[in-house]
Amino acid sequence: MNNTPKLLRPQFLLDPDIVFLNHGSFGACPKPIFDEYQKWQRKLETRPVKFQTEEVFTDLENSRRALGEYINCDKDDLVYFPNPTHAISNLIPSLNLNERDEVLTTDQEYGACDRAWVYYAQKSGFKYIKSEIPLPITSVEEFCQRFWSKATPQTKYVYLSHITSSTALILPIDKIVKEAKVRGIKTIIDGAHVPGHIPLDIKAMDPDYYTGACHKWLCCPKGVSFLYVRKELQDRMQPLVFSWGWGEEYDEFKASTQLHSESRFVNIFQWQGTRDMSAFLTVPASIEFQDQYDWDSVRSRCGEMVLDARNRITELTGLPQLCPDDWLGQMATILFPMDDTVAFKERLYDDHQIEIPTMAHEGLTAFRISIQGYNSEADVDHLIRTLKNFI
Ligand SMILES: Cc1ncc(COP(=O)(O)O)c(C=O)c1O
Repeated sequence: MNNTPKLLRPQFLLDPDIVFLNHGSFGACPKPIFDEYQKWQRKLETRPVKFQTEEVFTDLENSRRALGEYINCDKDDLVYFPNPTHAISNLIPSLNLNERDEVLTTDQEYGACDRAWVYYAQKSGFKYIKSEIPLPITSVEEFCQRFWSKATPQTKYVYLSHITSSTALILPIDKIVKEAKVRGIKTIIDGAHVPGHIPLDIKAMDPDYYTGACHKWLCCPKGVSFLYVRKELQDRMQPLVFSWGWGEEYDEFKASTQLHSESRFVNIFQWQGTRDMSAFLTVPASIEFQDQYDWDSVRSRCGEMVLDARNRITELTGLPQLCPDDWLGQMATILFPMDDTVAFKERLYDDHQIEIPTMAHEGLTAFRISIQGYNSEADVDHLIRTLKNFI
């Protein structure tokens, strides 16, 4: 019997009365990291001016350095955003797309970011084209063939998730980025679920733009995400919120623009008016926390539990699995024969204290199970025992 959950569960603030199988939505923060977060908040409130106008910039740089080392990119090629939704909404207008351009994506993208694309496509006239990825998916070749089937000479960017949200699929992103380069197409990757979940090596992958969340699988407090932009493309970036770090290239602002970094990209995004940046400063401690608890073995134990849970549940329902095993990490989406998705979720929570997201999938219900270090076999057993009542 593996002891890790016994060791890790008390480290988290999660309500002990709930069987929490939804790390994927907002993550969960361990107590030592939450303490670190509050330590930064206290520091800010102790000396608000000194902290916000001087110290925080060095602390942010240290945090970006640690994150850069973790995902293998230069610390000045990434900036913090509260979440990938902000990062994507901020990025699209800087791409300067027009009615001759096309952006190729999938039908599996996260709804909030999808909305930003639809809005800007309507506003600027570019085409936002979705390749359909019917499930079950059977192979990388099939995925790539389906994805590229809607590419045209007008395709300027591809935008897709590294791990999809509602279907929990690890997409073959390295292959897609490689092929995009051959086709002369730029790549925008939504890696909301990636940091802390599966290895990320930005230099090896070499995308043009990559956003990731640190409050999900890296277990930071809520509101820590980043946007990486390839150096040569950074000059084209403009913030949605203009502030003191912007304007060094304009005579009227030159003298008063606050340059806390040598990077224009960092300066224009880092200071966006008064806000609490404490959560961003917890990244080094979160990386260290996972190191300390040998997170590689935590991840592999969780991955095995996900596959085991999915196999037991599909055996119960007789419904197909949505992908081969190696498309999954610490999450899996599983079909279930229920009509009312909302009532199903409510009953799981209210009657059985199980927190798990449910969704509609081609006339059936599906749910997404997440397994994190604090979950034990007993959590999965409770879910499966409960599901038997619904069949
Ligand atoms: C694939 C994907 N992209 C983007 C997001 C956006 O996350 P946020 O709400 O933190 O912006 C999510 C959230 O779950 C996601 O699953």
